[in-house]
Amino acid sequence: MSIAAVIKNRRTTYQFTNEKVPQEILNQCLEAAIWAPNHKMRQPWLFWQLGEVSQAWLAQIYAEHRASKKVSQQDPEWTCLYDKAVQKFQRIPQVILVGQKLVEHPVDVMEDYAACACAIQNFQLMATECQLGVQWSTGPVIGDDRVYQYLNLDKTQTKLIAALYMGFPDCEVTSVRKSVEASLIQLD
Ligand SMILES: Cc1cc2nc3c(=O)[nH]c(=O)nc-3n(C[C@H](O)[C@H](O)[C@H](O)COP(=O)(O)O)c2cc1C
Repeated sequence: MSIAAVIKNRRTTYQFTNEKVPQEILNQCLEAAIWAPNHKMRQPWLFWQLGEVSQAWLAQIYAEHRASKKVSQQDPEWTCLYDKAVQKFQRIPQVILVGQKLVEHPVDVMEDYAACACAIQNFQLMATECQLGVQWSTGPVIGDDRVYQYLNLDKTQTKLIAALYMGFPDCEVTSVRKSVEASLIQLD
């Protein structure tokens, strides 16, 4: 695929087949990620590849947030929603967490978030080239203190900025964009 085709074909993917993500392909995506532009070569990103045990653990946190978003924990429906969400999370073929190493100066922190976003996009584009789909999530899981504890992270040193859910897409997804003219201001 040309770079233009990869960029346009990348789609946020929510439904995956049961097929596992080959480690070799995941490594290719991570390799693409770390070649992202980054100011002063701070390379501010960190990635965690979840395995069976950690994904099962995170599924509980995910499910708790998901069920509680819909009904209160006292509601009899909560347990059913929780169980469904655990299963949904467990079915994701591969979960990757992304962290940003924090630095002191606010401008550097902003630049580093931009660099991490570039890294995530590189990751997604490589995944697209390898026929994989990714959902970039900033949902409540990455803000949960228990996740920081689980990863042995100090919140003042590292910020979790994304959970990437990936696998082979189970169905085709489409998306639209406004025209370039809608976003472009041409100056004399
Ligand atoms: C910083 C960022 C955060 C996002 N967070 C979420 C999220 O929490 N949940 C989600 O479903 N999609 C999330 N997305 C994906 C967007 O919803 C998606 O890119 C948008 O709908 C356009 O669809 P496309 O990626 O297929 O072009 C996020 C994207 C970005 C760049």
